[in-house]
Amino acid sequence: MSNSHNFDQKVVLITGASSGIGAATAIQLSALGAQTVITGRNADRLHAIALQCNQKSTKGLTALEVISDLDNESDSKRLIDETIKKFGRIDVLVNNAALFDTNSNIESPDAIDVFDKIMRTNLRNTFVLTHFAVPHLIKTKGSIVNISSVTAFKPFANALVYCMAKSAIDMLTRGLAQELGPKGVRVNCINPAQIQTPVYAHFGMTVEEENKMWSEVSKKTPLRRPGEADDVAKAVAYFASDDSSFATGVSLKLDGGFMDSPQFIFS
Ligand SMILES: NC(=O)c1ccc[n+]([C@@H]2O[C@H](COP(=O)([O-])OP(=O)(O)OC[C@H]3O[C@@H](n4cnc5c(N)ncnc54)[C@H](OP(=O)(O)O)[C@@H]3O)[C@@H](O)[C@H]2O)c1
Repeated sequence: MSNSHNFDQKVVLITGASSGIGAATAIQLSALGAQTVITGRNADRLHAIALQCNQKSTKGLTALEVISDLDNESDSKRLIDETIKKFGRIDVLVNNAALFDTNSNIESPDAIDVFDKIMRTNLRNTFVLTHFAVPHLIKTKGSIVNISSVTAFKPFANALVYCMAKSAIDMLTRGLAQELGPKGVRVNCINPAQIQTPVYAHFGMTVEEENKMWSEVSKKTPLRRPGEADDVAKAVAYFASDDSSFATGVSLKLDGGFMDSPQFIFS
């Protein structure tokens, strides 16, 4: 029986690691012995997470910090190149970086600009980075974990493009699972409902608005609480590890029962 969640000698690259789910994932995987490569645009926030990774590392490893704006294809290429230059391998790619939007109704005056922006950051960037990473993942018979959303399954009010992009991430996951399975690479995705991360503050929500939203979400969720970034990080650890060795092409709904609740409503 192999050692559960053993990331010894594994190099794990996590996008969007300067905040929220990506940060929690980087810290969790560092604690499980992984060599993490963390990336984001905000250098100060990324460095703060690196310090937490280093502190939690059971192997005394130092996270590699790479500042990158994945909207630039050259940054995606550099991110992979720097990882390979430093460690010579990539075992796990966690495609997590994304933006949320609540202004993409088809009738919005700026609908086309929002479409281009969200599709670029949330879908194209994942495709591009995966394209650059796959040759290395084939060598290690590695794994890809995409962070999608329950909005891949059901539309969210005023976030048409976000939902479309997430839906495509699920299809990317399933298609890649077919393409890369014979080469030993597994590809899965996690579909969280609302998770308590800084995304809502980044988006301009006040503390009062957030508190009200979390109270509503808790009431409508059978498990009576919103999700936390650590809930998602634990699911990433499962898909990234050999514990999920027969799982590929999976979309894991991680929602505390929210989507099936009779009180479910996205608004
Ligand atoms: N929170 C939720 O309720 C929820 C629910 C379902 C799914 N999700 C998904 O979970 C993932 C993480 O969300 P979160 O809540 O943790 O969000 P978050 O706290 O806002 O973090 C987003 C991360 O993405 C990075 N990022 C955004 N655009 C980027 C770009 N162009 N280049 C490089 N990095 C970029 C940000 O980097 P900088 O800050 O350094 O710019 C940040 O590290 C996303 O895919 C999101 O769609 C979240």
